[in-house]
Amino acid sequence: MHIVAIVGSLRAKSYNRVLVIEAQKLLGPDVTLSIAEIGDLPLFNEELDPADESTTPASVLRLRQQIREADAVLIATPEYNHAPPGSLKNALDWASRPFMKSALAKKPVAAFSAGGGRFGGVRSLVMLRTMLYGCRMLVMPSPELMVNLSETFKDGELVDPKVRDSLREFVAALVVWAQR
Ligand SMILES: Cc1cc2nc3c(=O)[nH]c(=O)nc-3n(C[C@H](O)[C@H](O)[C@H](O)COP(=O)(O)O)c2cc1C
Repeated sequence: MHIVAIVGSLRAKSYNRVLVIEAQKLLGPDVTLSIAEIGDLPLFNEELDPADESTTPASVLRLRQQIREADAVLIATPEYNHAPPGSLKNALDWASRPFMKSALAKKPVAAFSAGGGRFGGVRSLVMLRTMLYGCRMLVMPSPELMVNLSETFKDGELVDPKVRDSLREFVAALVVWAQR
Protein backbone atom coordinates (compact mmCIF):
# COMPACT_ATOMS: atom_id res chain seq x y z
CA MET A 1 0.00 0.00 0.00
CA HIS A 2 1.15 3.52 -0.77
CA ILE A 3 -0.08 6.68 0.95
CA VAL A 4 0.55 10.14 -0.46
CA ALA A 5 0.57 12.97 2.07
CA ILE A 6 -0.26 16.62 1.50
CA VAL A 7 0.89 19.16 4.07
CA GLY A 8 -1.14 22.36 4.19
CA SER A 9 1.74 24.43 5.55
CA LEU A 10 4.57 25.47 3.24
CA ARG A 11 6.97 26.29 6.10
CA ALA A 12 10.18 24.25 5.99
CA LYS A 13 9.90 23.68 9.76
CA SER A 14 6.14 23.12 9.74
CA TYR A 15 4.85 21.11 12.70
CA ASN A 16 2.28 19.53 10.39
CA ARG A 17 5.15 18.34 8.21
CA VAL A 18 7.02 17.00 11.26
CA LEU A 19 3.91 14.99 12.19
CA VAL A 20 3.66 13.53 8.68
CA ILE A 21 7.34 12.55 8.75
CA GLU A 22 6.70 10.95 12.17
CA ALA A 23 3.69 9.11 10.68
CA GLN A 24 6.02 7.68 8.02
CA LYS A 25 8.00 5.96 10.79
CA LEU A 26 4.88 4.61 12.52
CA LEU A 27 3.57 2.67 9.52
CA GLY A 28 4.21 -1.03 9.05
CA PRO A 29 6.91 -2.26 6.63
CA ASP A 30 4.35 -3.02 3.90
CA VAL A 31 3.10 0.58 3.73
CA THR A 32 5.01 3.45 2.12
CA LEU A 33 4.30 7.15 2.49
CA SER A 34 5.61 10.05 0.42
CA ILE A 35 4.85 13.76 0.57
CA ALA A 36 3.41 15.49 -2.52
CA GLU A 37 4.82 19.02 -2.59
CA ILE A 38 2.30 21.77 -3.32
CA GLY A 39 4.43 24.90 -2.91
CA ASP A 40 5.20 25.29 -6.61
CA LEU A 41 1.62 24.99 -7.86
CA PRO A 42 0.37 28.15 -9.60
CA LEU A 43 -2.86 29.69 -8.36
CA PHE A 44 -5.76 27.77 -9.81
CA ASN A 45 -6.99 29.14 -13.14
CA GLU A 46 -9.38 27.05 -15.18
CA GLU A 47 -8.00 28.57 -18.40
CA LEU A 48 -4.61 26.90 -17.75
CA ASP A 49 -6.24 23.47 -17.56
CA PRO A 50 -8.04 22.20 -20.69
CA ALA A 51 -9.97 18.90 -20.51
CA ASP A 52 -7.18 17.10 -22.43
CA GLU A 53 -4.54 18.55 -20.01
CA SER A 54 -2.44 19.59 -23.04
CA THR A 55 -1.35 22.90 -21.49
CA THR A 56 -1.80 22.03 -17.82
CA PRO A 57 1.23 23.11 -15.73
CA ALA A 58 3.77 20.32 -15.08
CA SER A 59 3.54 20.75 -11.30
CA VAL A 60 -0.20 20.10 -11.48
CA LEU A 61 0.22 16.98 -13.63
CA ARG A 62 2.81 15.73 -11.13
CA LEU A 63 0.41 16.21 -8.20
CA ARG A 64 -2.42 14.44 -10.02
CA GLN A 65 -0.14 11.53 -10.90
CA GLN A 66 1.10 11.18 -7.32
CA ILE A 67 -2.48 11.02 -6.07
CA ARG A 68 -3.62 8.60 -8.80
CA GLU A 69 -0.75 6.23 -7.98
CA ALA A 70 -1.55 6.24 -4.24
CA ASP A 71 -4.02 3.96 -2.49
CA ALA A 72 -4.90 6.64 0.05
CA VAL A 73 -4.27 10.30 0.87
CA LEU A 74 -3.20 11.72 4.24
CA ILE A 75 -3.69 15.46 4.77
CA ALA A 76 -2.15 17.49 7.60
CA THR A 77 -3.47 21.01 7.94
CA PRO A 78 -2.76 24.01 10.12
CA GLU A 79 -5.49 26.55 10.86
CA TYR A 80 -5.19 29.96 9.23
CA ASN A 81 -7.89 32.41 10.32
CA HIS A 82 -10.19 29.59 11.38
CA ALA A 83 -9.88 27.83 8.01
CA PRO A 84 -7.47 25.64 6.00
CA PRO A 85 -4.64 27.57 4.29
CA GLY A 86 -5.28 28.81 0.76
CA SER A 87 -2.35 26.71 -0.49
CA LEU A 88 -4.18 23.53 0.50
CA LYS A 89 -7.49 24.60 -1.06
CA ASN A 90 -5.54 25.53 -4.20
CA ALA A 91 -3.95 22.06 -4.37
CA LEU A 92 -7.31 20.34 -3.90
CA ASP A 93 -8.92 22.48 -6.60
CA TRP A 94 -6.15 21.53 -9.06
CA ALA A 95 -6.29 17.85 -8.13
CA SER A 96 -10.09 17.76 -8.50
CA ARG A 97 -9.93 18.43 -12.25
CA PRO A 98 -10.32 17.66 -15.18
CA PHE A 99 -14.08 17.48 -14.68
CA MET A 100 -15.21 13.84 -14.21
CA LYS A 101 -11.56 12.70 -14.30
CA SER A 102 -10.62 13.89 -10.83
CA ALA A 103 -7.63 12.22 -9.17
CA LEU A 104 -9.44 12.67 -5.85
CA ALA A 105 -12.80 11.08 -6.61
CA LYS A 106 -13.40 7.85 -4.66
CA LYS A 107 -9.93 8.06 -3.11
CA PRO A 108 -9.74 7.16 0.60
CA VAL A 109 -8.51 10.12 2.66
CA ALA A 110 -7.83 10.96 6.29
CA ALA A 111 -7.11 14.46 7.53
CA PHE A 112 -5.76 15.75 10.82
CA SER A 113 -4.94 19.23 12.05
CA ALA A 114 -2.19 20.75 14.12
CA GLY A 115 -2.57 24.34 15.22
CA GLY A 116 -1.22 26.95 17.59
CA GLY A 117 -4.50 27.56 19.38
CA ARG A 118 -5.93 25.45 22.17
CA PHE A 119 -8.38 23.69 19.82
CA GLY A 120 -5.61 22.16 17.69
CA GLY A 121 -6.98 23.56 14.43
CA VAL A 122 -10.37 21.83 14.70
CA ARG A 123 -12.18 24.65 12.88
CA SER A 124 -9.83 24.19 9.94
CA LEU A 125 -10.36 20.44 10.02
CA VAL A 126 -14.17 20.71 9.97
CA MET A 127 -14.01 23.01 6.96
CA LEU A 128 -11.46 20.79 5.23
CA ARG A 129 -13.64 17.71 5.66
CA THR A 130 -16.50 19.55 3.95
CA MET A 131 -14.16 20.30 1.04
CA LEU A 132 -13.07 16.68 0.83
CA TYR A 133 -16.70 15.54 0.55
CA GLY A 134 -17.08 18.13 -2.23
CA CYS A 135 -14.12 16.49 -3.98
CA ARG A 136 -16.04 13.17 -3.74
CA MET A 137 -13.34 11.60 -1.58
CA LEU A 138 -13.97 8.73 0.83
CA VAL A 139 -13.36 10.56 4.10
CA MET A 140 -12.31 8.42 7.07
CA PRO A 141 -14.92 9.16 9.76
CA SER A 142 -12.85 8.27 12.82
CA PRO A 143 -10.61 8.49 14.75
CA GLU A 144 -10.21 12.27 14.71
CA LEU A 145 -6.87 13.89 15.42
CA MET A 146 -6.35 17.51 16.39
CA VAL A 147 -2.93 18.38 17.80
CA ASN A 148 -2.37 21.31 20.14
CA LEU A 149 1.15 22.44 19.29
CA SER A 150 2.02 24.12 22.57
CA GLU A 151 2.06 20.84 24.52
CA THR A 152 3.50 18.64 21.82
CA PHE A 153 6.81 19.92 20.46
CA LYS A 154 10.17 20.93 21.86
CA ASP A 155 12.82 22.43 19.57
CA GLY A 156 10.80 21.35 16.55
CA GLU A 157 10.64 17.69 17.64
CA LEU A 158 7.57 15.71 18.67
CA VAL A 159 7.99 15.04 22.40
CA ASP A 160 4.50 14.02 23.55
CA PRO A 161 4.22 10.19 23.59
CA LYS A 162 0.39 10.41 23.74
CA VAL A 163 0.33 12.35 20.49
CA ARG A 164 2.67 9.79 18.93
CA ASP A 165 0.32 7.00 20.01
CA SER A 166 -2.69 8.88 18.60
CA LEU A 167 -0.83 9.42 15.34
CA ARG A 168 0.06 5.72 15.14
CA GLU A 169 -3.59 4.81 15.70
CA PHE A 170 -4.69 7.39 13.13
CA VAL A 171 -2.48 6.16 10.27
CA ALA A 172 -3.22 2.51 11.11
CA ALA A 173 -6.92 3.35 10.80
CA LEU A 174 -6.27 4.97 7.41
CA VAL A 175 -4.62 1.76 6.17
CA VAL A 176 -7.68 -0.27 7.27
CA TRP A 177 -10.02 2.35 5.74
CA ALA A 178 -8.17 2.17 2.40
CA GLN A 179 -8.21 -1.63 2.43
CA ARG A 180 -11.98 -1.64 3.00
C1 LIG B 1 -2.04 33.64 8.69
C2 LIG B 1 -2.13 32.80 9.94
C3 LIG B 1 -3.33 32.64 10.56
C4 LIG B 1 -3.45 31.81 11.69
N1 LIG B 1 -4.68 31.62 12.24
C5 LIG B 1 -4.82 30.70 13.22
C6 LIG B 1 -6.11 30.35 13.71
O1 LIG B 1 -7.12 30.84 13.25
N2 LIG B 1 -6.20 29.42 14.69
C7 LIG B 1 -5.09 28.80 15.20
O2 LIG B 1 -5.22 27.94 16.08
N3 LIG B 1 -3.85 29.12 14.78
C8 LIG B 1 -3.69 30.05 13.80
N4 LIG B 1 -2.45 30.34 13.31
C9 LIG B 1 -1.29 29.69 13.92
C10 LIG B 1 -0.92 28.40 13.18
O3 LIG B 1 -1.84 27.40 13.51
C11 LIG B 1 0.48 28.01 13.60
O4 LIG B 1 1.36 28.98 13.07
C12 LIG B 1 0.89 26.62 13.13
O5 LIG B 1 2.14 26.35 13.65
C13 LIG B 1 1.00 26.51 11.64
O6 LIG B 1 1.31 25.18 11.29
P1 LIG B 1 2.75 24.72 10.78
O7 LIG B 1 3.65 24.67 11.98
O8 LIG B 1 2.50 23.38 10.19
O9 LIG B 1 3.23 25.75 9.79
C14 LIG B 1 -2.31 31.19 12.22
C15 LIG B 1 -1.06 31.39 11.58
C16 LIG B 1 -0.98 32.16 10.47
C17 LIG B 1 0.37 32.32 9.79
